[in-house]
Amino acid sequence: MLQNPSDHRTESGHLKNRLPPTSQLPVIGAGGPQGDYDFLVVSNRLPLDREIQDDGDDGWRRSPGGLVTALAPLMSRADGAWVGWHGAPDEKVDPFDHDNMHLVPVSLSSSEVEDYYEGFANATLWPLYHDVIAPPEFHRTWWDAYRTINHRFADAAARTAARGATVWVQDYQLQLVPRYLRISRPDLRIGFFNHIPFPPPEIFAQLPWRRAIIDGLLGADLIGFQRPNDAANFLRSSRRFLGANVKAKQVHVSGPDGTISHIARAEAFPISIDVDQIQQLAQREDVIERSRQIRHDLGNPKTILLGVDRLDYTKGITHRLKAYGELLTDGHVQVTDATLIQVASPSRERVESYRLLREDVEGSVGRINGTFDTIQNTAVRYLHHSYPVEEMVALYLAADVMLVTALRDGMNLVAKEYVASRVNNTGALVLSEFTGAADQLRQALLVNPHDIDGLKSTIMTAINLSPLEAGRRMRAMRRQVLDHDVERWSQDFLRALDEKAVRDDR
Ligand code: G6P
Repeated sequence: MLQNPSDHRTESGHLKNRLPPTSQLPVIGAGGPQGDYDFLVVSNRLPLDREIQDDGDDGWRRSPGGLVTALAPLMSRADGAWVGWHGAPDEKVDPFDHDNMHLVPVSLSSSEVEDYYEGFANATLWPLYHDVIAPPEFHRTWWDAYRTINHRFADAAARTAARGATVWVQDYQLQLVPRYLRISRPDLRIGFFNHIPFPPPEIFAQLPWRRAIIDGLLGADLIGFQRPNDAANFLRSSRRFLGANVKAKQVHVSGPDGTISHIARAEAFPISIDVDQIQQLAQREDVIERSRQIRHDLGNPKTILLGVDRLDYTKGITHRLKAYGELLTDGHVQVTDATLIQVASPSRERVESYRLLREDVEGSVGRINGTFDTIQNTAVRYLHHSYPVEEMVALYLAADVMLVTALRDGMNLVAKEYVASRVNNTGALVLSEFTGAADQLRQALLVNPHDIDGLKSTIMTAINLSPLEAGRRMRAMRRQVLDHDVERWSQDFLRALDEKAVRDDR
């Protein structure tokens, strides 16, 4: 049994390998196509990511991204299994237990990682679903790999799930899994949640395999999206590209013989964070002390601004840097008064558009710092790392202004984490209107990040926000986040899935 990862965390947030030798691990579903688990999550990534560390040791660290942030707390409380990739190519790892979760690793070869993960998932679907900010690429070999790997995940889930189990499939990498599962295991209750936006039919139309994707998703009983708009886009595409019979939020799905096989429902369930965890950390003395230290190490500037993102072109980091650089050039912000901390955690580094973005971002940071830094002061403190949650909360506490300037984002959990950590009702949140979070955090300083002048003036408003006004806004946002934590999100989804099954059985 793996021990609690926090016991083994190295400085950079890595986990030392405590896996038992693979030969001692139980094999799931060895006797047949069915397993023992009544509840399963299936996602491309497991919550742990295999990696080779600097000292050559192989180890584990927490996986990046909002999906794992949201699901890990739920899964460590639920008695279920999690099926997913462990992040390393060409390596077979047997199922194991960790932090009260049963993890079932799915293996991918190097060429499958290239074609399915870097290719179809992250160079076709990701840009297509995010307003084609980068041009999506369409390759038939990538699509073939996507189908093969979706089959593999569905098989692993089928072998792990008990009769009548609930299987909750996650995100754009696995959109065919609901259909494959329904074919192999019609006894299962199948949910799907899409963590990223679902594009309007006018954009989705570009995908050569649009019918198969819609059909794949319609294998689920309940299909969850971040925003009502995403659900509406999906329903419009179902009607337009499959000629589906859509009534209200429901699609009547036909089986191979033309009769109705089941009714799929599409609805919004905005995701959230583990509010208790963030609030507890925000009140822990060592975390508060660390936030003071961060301010001190930066020379105690009047204002600290903060951006925290995966290094992804959807996050609007270059727009943010452009606006901030111009504020320095115009003299509205002085390097002696303010510092922008930009945490950019490494992401999808072998995908071309991510490589180009990194060059762009690092070029901008270099130019800004080269122009405005003094020996004592830095304009932008750029950190190309990922950090454990304790350090993130210390950063949130140190930051007077949080900048979330995504060009398109399914939700953006960083915005919610910032709000949850501001237990004193201080601080200002600049939030892109193109995030799912903007639907809920209406009292943020909302901004269109494409409008650089608008972004500049909103950043200035945030820097100069009176404590009274900041408190009024933060209190309202905190009420929203505190009332809608990730526990409630999962309960709402799973209850809707249960209730639907009961209705359908009648
Ligand atoms: C987003 C996606 C997740 C993904 C995460 C990290 O949050 O919705 O599905 O896991 O980014 O990206 P990666 O490609 O490293 O898994």
